[in-house]
Amino acid sequence: MKETTVNDCRVIDIRKYSDNRGYLSVIEGGLDIPFEIKRIYYLYMVPEAARGAHAHKRLQQLMIATSGSVHVTMDDGKNRKTFVLDRPWKGLLVPPGLWRTLNDFSGGTVCMVLASEKYEVSDYIRDYDDFLRYKGLL
Ligand code: TYD
Repeated sequence: MKETTVNDCRVIDIRKYSDNRGYLSVIEGGLDIPFEIKRIYYLYMVPEAARGAHAHKRLQQLMIATSGSVHVTMDDGKNRKTFVLDRPWKGLLVPPGLWRTLNDFSGGTVCMVLASEKYEVSDYIRDYDDFLRYKGLL
């Protein structure tokens, strides 16, 4: 998806149910998000350094700070947009073809990522100039 822009990212309110026992949030692939979930991974105990700094050619993701907070900066080669994930019911839908960087993890943050595909090394673009070439901007 070479044409995607930062404006194609969307923060969604994840479905939640609450009563006197607290809150429960649920995400069903294909229903609450526009893809089936093939993989889940999560980042935690992240020190000062940023994570991410890559793009995907096909992968779609939903990112959630299930606890704590993290700043996610999306970059389409022309524009950048930073999203703050700081609630367990806020999810950032990320289409393919965008460079992402995750930083400013607060202490104890767990950032969970639901992914549309299994792990595939060939889906990654890890060099920023290669990314710009992929987008037709270099
Ligand atoms: P990496 O892609 O460097 O993390 P980041 O999302 O911060 O860029 O992944 C770190 C390591 O984890 C790397 O050796 C590959 C491995 N990994 C998997 O084996 N499967 C996965 O689904 C993911 C996301 C990573």
